[in-house]
Amino acid sequence: MYFQADTIAIEKTEVSSFIDSYVTNFGNISSLSDIKTKDLKELTKDSRTNPFKDSIEKIKTQTDDDKIGISVVDIPSGISEDKKLDVLYGCLSAAGLMESLSELVEDKKSGTPFTLYNASKENEEKLVEAGLKFYSPEDRLGFHTDGLIDGAKVKVPNYIAVYNIMVAYRKPGNFYYLPKSLWKDYNKFRDAFGINKDVSFSMTPIVYAGKDGELVSSEGKTLTCPVFSSDSCTDAIFFNGEVSSDCNKITTLAAEMTESLLDNPDRWAAPIKNRRLFIMNNKSGFHARDIFADPIDGVRYTRSFMRFVSEEGQCIKETA
Ligand SMILES: [Fe+2]
Repeated sequence: MYFQADTIAIEKTEVSSFIDSYVTNFGNISSLSDIKTKDLKELTKDSRTNPFKDSIEKIKTQTDDDKIGISVVDIPSGISEDKKLDVLYGCLSAAGLMESLSELVEDKKSGTPFTLYNASKENEEKLVEAGLKFYSPEDRLGFHTDGLIDGAKVKVPNYIAVYNIMVAYRKPGNFYYLPKSLWKDYNKFRDAFGINKDVSFSMTPIVYAGKDGELVSSEGKTLTCPVFSSDSCTDAIFFNGEVSSDCNKITTLAAEMTESLLDNPDRWAAPIKNRRLFIMNNKSGFHARDIFADPIDGVRYTRSFMRFVSEEGQCIKETA
């Protein structure tokens, strides 16, 4: 059964007030690369004067609830009459909300608190010709959690979020989240993998077009870390890429876990659409989405989205 996730519609007045403060303090923006981490930190550091304070409370109530764990946030349009600026203000608001929720990992190249991904037909065709394996918008991603490699540490970030700037598909489908509390086989797989027991993962290289259409890739690498981790305070699950092991038992177990997550009777669902921000409690639940269908022709990009990752998370492995 799919539970339809409640959406939080951010008030237009809240967004306008945030944008006004931003523009007054730091000047107007003309591109996404103008959105700098330090400016957003400055603007959101005082929770009493943060224009998003009420929305943040609502978001936290959902993400911190172990039966829910996902917050689906709609950012209103019509903040500016200028169409391009209105898109940028949506992105700026998404970044402001996320920076209010948590410290964010900074994209080193751009100094922004997010990474921008653009997918286009042209780029994907080039990559397929080059024989590269990558995620295209048509791929169905199985249920997984996101990791973060921070120097010698493998971390499971507390929050991750995706903001859809533009999805050029008539049927973009749903985004899904499955908290471990709704996963009927949680105990079974936790016991089978064991707690803090290392497994080898081969990470799929992810290739997308960056903001100027250039190709950005994360190299495929092998990670050795546990699926189920526990320290003195909290638990975390890492499940991403493919489990590669000489031991058949582990590979079979991982394949069974993928099936179990996809077949689980319950999950949260929400339609994917423009100006919608999905925020997830990444340590205690898995996310996935449908295959995008029915592409709209004649567009430069098939999908543009911002991805946010919280700085804070659980360290599940330290090498070196
Ligand atoms: Fe993900």
